[in-house]
Amino acid sequence: MNMKKIGVLASGGDAPGMNAAIRAVVRVGISRGLQVFGIRRGYRGLLAGDAIPMDFNSVSNIINKGGTILYTARSKEFITKEGVLQSRDNCKRLGLDGLIVIGGDGSLRGAMELSEAGVPCALVPGTIDNDLPCSEYSIGFDTAVNTAMQMVDKIQDTTEAFERCSVVEVMGRHCGNIALQTGIAVGATAILVPEVSFDLHKDVIEKIKKLRDMGKSHFIVIVAEGAGDSDVIAQQIENETGVITRTTVLGHVQRGGSPTARDRVISSAMGAKAVEVLCESEGSKVIAMNRGKIVAYDILEGLDRKKSFDIDLYKTSLELST
Ligand code: F6P
Repeated sequence: MNMKKIGVLASGGDAPGMNAAIRAVVRVGISRGLQVFGIRRGYRGLLAGDAIPMDFNSVSNIINKGGTILYTARSKEFITKEGVLQSRDNCKRLGLDGLIVIGGDGSLRGAMELSEAGVPCALVPGTIDNDLPCSEYSIGFDTAVNTAMQMVDKIQDTTEAFERCSVVEVMGRHCGNIALQTGIAVGATAILVPEVSFDLHKDVIEKIKKLRDMGKSHFIVIVAEGAGDSDVIAQQIENETGVITRTTVLGHVQRGGSPTARDRVISSAMGAKAVEVLCESEGSKVIAMNRGKIVAYDILEGLDRKKSFDIDLYKTSLELST
């Protein structure tokens, strides 16, 4: 398609690497002769027509920064029919021929609706949860896991000093990917995820008792936020094992910070690919990682795919901690 002017926005939960993706879109867009506009505050900004021209310098020195220079938002108004049509009209008024959206599942649905209303879109997967069905990887995940790992390493020191158990709740909404990778990286005694049903008594409490009988004196249990109430889990562990148990909810610390090299590189490659497909193909696309390669799917195909949880890695985690 003959693109002259495109917009870029970040939407939903921010993820480290979003700035690197914005930078890639702006720089690759300019190098291909496009005008690039940044839409502030995601779909909410699109609905308000809040667009600013971006140039080479406007994305200088942001590749290393978390958050998003364009801000982000979750917009209830946008997802109404009127909201989508108003956003489409704003794109026309601003002269935008296409839009690059950086975000997760909700953002993908928004992009599909805009696309159906006549605005070609390309979605770059950006969410720490790594829960987009169509892509092996979404930007921000590696940084979030590294942050969680470093935090749990610190919790581990005091847990060991007091011979306690620590239940650490990590983010991920309905997805256990952050929990699984963090749990393996810190050598957790147990990892609880929403994708695998568990019996707290048999799978965690009996295991702690057995390990304690074998001489282990401190325990880390990683709980994905979608797997259960970490306070209730901690209380039950303490009541039934007698081991003093504390809960830590890591929370939004996992969404911030300077992106890892992996996130900077993948964000740059995905941002560049989004510009390429918007300029060179017809219709709307989702950028994805498939077997380690950056690819693009038609947006409907992207929505149709199912995410599979890495059950083999989960089974390995069980063997590592028995
Ligand atoms: O989707 C990213 C995420 O950080 C989830 O892991 C979490 O459940 C949610 O966003 C929290 O959203 P908010 O910051 O709006 O409370």
